[in-house]
Amino acid sequence: MQLLEGKVAVITGAARGIGRACAEVFAAHGARVVLSDIDEEPAREAAEALKAAGGEALAVAGDVTAAEFGTRIVGAALDAYGRLDCIVNNAGYTWDGTAHKMSDEQWQAMLDVHLTAPFRLIRAASAYLRETAKREKEERGRAQARKVVNVSSTSGTRGNAGQANYAAGKAGVVGLTKTLAKEWGQFNIQVNAVAFGFIETRLTQAKESGERVHRESADIALGIPRANREIAFKLIPAGRGGTPEEAAGAVLFFASPLSDYVSGQVLEVTGGL
Ligand SMILES: NC(=O)c1ccc[n+]([C@@H]2O[C@H](COP(=O)([O-])OP(=O)(O)OC[C@H]3O[C@@H](n4cnc5c(N)ncnc54)[C@H](O)[C@@H]3O)[C@@H](O)[C@H]2O)c1
Repeated sequence: MQLLEGKVAVITGAARGIGRACAEVFAAHGARVVLSDIDEEPAREAAEALKAAGGEALAVAGDVTAAEFGTRIVGAALDAYGRLDCIVNNAGYTWDGTAHKMSDEQWQAMLDVHLTAPFRLIRAASAYLRETAKREKEERGRAQARKVVNVSSTSGTRGNAGQANYAAGKAGVVGLTKTLAKEWGQFNIQVNAVAFGFIETRLTQAKESGERVHRESADIALGIPRANREIAFKLIPAGRGGTPEEAAGAVLFFASPLSDYVSGQVLEVTGGL
């Protein structure tokens, strides 16, 4: 069964990890996918791989925290495919530190990428989404279902030591999700969030492997100490982290008609924690 036949989805942070797995499962279900990422080359490579597998995909490079990003990505989707059915706000990273040592830049960076960027992208799409829904309602009595899926974290729903900035951003996006669900129910747009626990990506890899990202004045080490990974696996009832593909399954549910009467929800995907 193809759940997204004929649909067009924008996915941010789609070059790797959970976002890329979402792009792959969406394409496998018939969606045309606009993959966006701050890292141009892996985003382009991910789009090419989808096309080679018979899908339709487009890579658009860009930093989600840039003021004009939302307008640009929505424009790219509409120019390429003439419609937009689903937005997945997934791009992000972590910049950990205890609160008493956290700089303003460190705090603000997490709010920018995890909260303001999703808000701006949703706002940029709002004219198209609302006007299209109004027209469809007039013509057919009911608008087609459209979807926003915001990626949150159990750090946002439960808190996590060392992540005050990230947790605040990921909690904020839950408030955004619940509010938009109330504002946009009348347009048949479902707005939901997925709060992941521990998913195996470069954000949760052993820090000792040394992957870093560069943002503004900072050079940030990604990952968590190897010992903390082992502790996490002991606490997770499933005994392991989830795969990006398992993470993408929950996003697919919220992007698909299976969730047409589900809105304003936060689904924790944690392996039972
Ligand atoms: N991995 C986990 O355990 C976990 C748990 C909870 C939530 N999350 C969230 O899931 C989302 C995806 O993370 P992931 O684990 O797949 O990590 P990842 O690093 O594998 O992928 C994230 C992608 O986002 C991109 N990105 C980062 N900042 C960006 C920016 N400013 N503009 C555009 N693209 C940007 C990165 O280049 C990368 O390709 C993030 O929002 C993350 O906070 C992950």
